[in-house]
Formats: sequence, structure tokens, C-alpha cells
Amino acid sequence: MEAFVDRAVGEISGIQGRVLCGVSGGIDSTVAALLIHRAIGDRLHGVFIDNGLLRQDEGDEIEAIFRDNFHVNFTAVSAAERFLEGLRGVADPEAKRKAVGEEFVRVFSEFAERNGPFSWLAQGTLYPDVIESGVSKGPAAVIKSHHNVGGLPDWLDLKVLEPLRDLYKDEVREIARILGVPDRIVRRHPFPGPGLAVRIIGEVTPAKLRVARTASRIVEDVLLEAGVYDDVWQAYAAVGDDRAVGVVGDERRYGSIVMVRVVNSVDAMTADWTRLSHETLERISNRITNEIEDVTWVTYTISSKPPATIEPQ
Ligand code: XMP
Repeated sequence: MEAFVDRAVGEISGIQGRVLCGVSGGIDSTVAALLIHRAIGDRLHGVFIDNGLLRQDEGDEIEAIFRDNFHVNFTAVSAAERFLEGLRGVADPEAKRKAVGEEFVRVFSEFAERNGPFSWLAQGTLYPDVIESGVSKGPAAVIKSHHNVGGLPDWLDLKVLEPLRDLYKDEVREIARILGVPDRIVRRHPFPGPGLAVRIIGEVTPAKLRVARTASRIVEDVLLEAGVYDDVWQAYAAVGDDRAVGVVGDERRYGSIVMVRVVNSVDAMTADWTRLSHETLERISNRITNEIEDVTWVTYTISSKPPATIEPQ
């Protein structure tokens, strides 16, 4: 991987013009941005779009890290309202991906137009993204469209720079350590580009967003406390429109059902559900029902990929 870094930096330093890199705060785009920054310095501009579908506190953390640790030219764009407006009334999984992807393209294009000209668009696309999006000519059919592969308008005239497109996640983690990426980013589980929109079954509403975001934070916190966070691939809580009856004191309450999903995987192409201890599951369940008023039931998903996928939408 050290050789990979040297080679990539060498190749990238030969390119002409300014590079715009979409940064999500995840390890892939962070590593892509840093590799390019190492090669061309201030000719790189990182842009982070807050789509309102992020994990709790994620936007603030990303901004602080890029400004303080990396000293990269960096802009955070707040666009939550636009994304939520675009998702209103949309329930189909692929339609939600499309709505988020298209809004992303619009916000990103506007930024590029206003702050350009840029010659290159850099992305943290990995090998599994390329395969699962059916971009390659390989035998894999499109499983889910990934909005971070392709799709910007031609008039921006941006050439695409994807320095990680031949790599798997574990290789990117190794490069991140070589580049000095803070441990909390290296350790952080992957997160889908369309964010909580694919962790909410059916329409994305502010109420369901609140449940998914708060419950997911609880799942991550409990796994960190139990010392198993680093042993699993992804861990979160999803929510849909199904409701179940609960009791609070002497009262009957009709509340949401939260689905906790924790999986092991090496490359996200296949995944197995994680055999969490009963104590850990109990702690997750108790905290979610105690801390989120609307939730009455907590379930644990025990489907592997295949036949399920990691995200429910
Ligand atoms: P699935 O749900 O297809 O997820 O088993 C495999 C991996 O990809 C992530 N994922 C996405 N990432 N855009 C992304 O950037 C997407 O639309 C998307 N859908 C799923 C998922 O979190 C898992 O790590």
C-alpha cells in the first residue's frame, strides 16, 4: 500500500488544472482527497454537501476534521431542506436514491459553476461500487444504483479522477493509516451515499429521520462500549411505517418498530448477520425504547446477504 500511495501521488501530480473532490466524511472520499492533496496541494478543493440524511453530529465533525487536521481548501454546503423537499412523497428505494442523487448533482454542479473553473472531479469510488453499479462490463448486474458513480452534467466538462477504483475497503483503511487520517474516521463504519434515506423504509419524514438517527447512534454507542464496534462491518437502526402496541405505565402506546442491523463483511458484496451477545442486544433494546419516546418495539435482523442486502432500501 505504501507503493500504491507513492505511485498514485506521482501519477496525480502530473495532472493539469484544479480538482474538485466531493467529500462525504467517510474514509473513501477522505483518502481520495488526501492523496490528491498530497500530489497537488491547493489546486484541490474539497466540498462537503450536508444533505440532512447524515448520522448524528456528522456534518460538524467532518468540517472540524477537514479544517483542523488536513488544512485542505474546504467548503461545507448546507442543503438539507432541498434534499428533504426532493424526497417528499417518494417511497420506492430506487426512486429515493435517484432523488438524492439528482439533488446531489444539482447542488454539486451549482457549487462547481460558482467556484470554478475545475478541470477534474475526484471521487472516492471503490471497486465494489464500480461492480455493483454495473459500470464495468463485468458479469455483475446492477444490484443497487450508487449515486456516487458518474452522473454529473456534460457542460461542467469535468474529467473524472477516481484514485481508489481498484481497491477494496480494507486496502483503503491501510492507506488511510499511512496518510495519517484520524483514527475515528479510519474506524468509522461505511455509510451509504443516500444516507438515512436508504435506512428508512418508505417515505423519508422528519419523524422517521429522528428515530433512525437517534437509534443508530445508540446502536453504535453500545457496540463501542461493548468493545465490538471494530469487529463488525456496519451497525445501525432502520425504521419504517409499521407500528406495534406497547405499554408505558398503565397506558397503551402505539409506537414505531425499530430494526437493528449489525453485519459482518469483508467487501460488502456478501455479509452475515452478527451474533451479538444477548446482553448487548438487551442493552440496545432498552436504551432505544427508553430514550426514543415513539419507539415501542426493537427487532434484530438475522438475514444475511444474499438473499438480503445490507441496507433495507
Ligand atoms: P447493500 O445494501 O447493497 O450495500 O448490500 C452494500 C454496501 O454499500 C452501501 N450502500 C450504498 N452506498 N450509495 C452508496 O454510496 C448507495 O446507494 C448505497 N446503497 C448501499 C451499504 O451501506 C453497504 O456498505
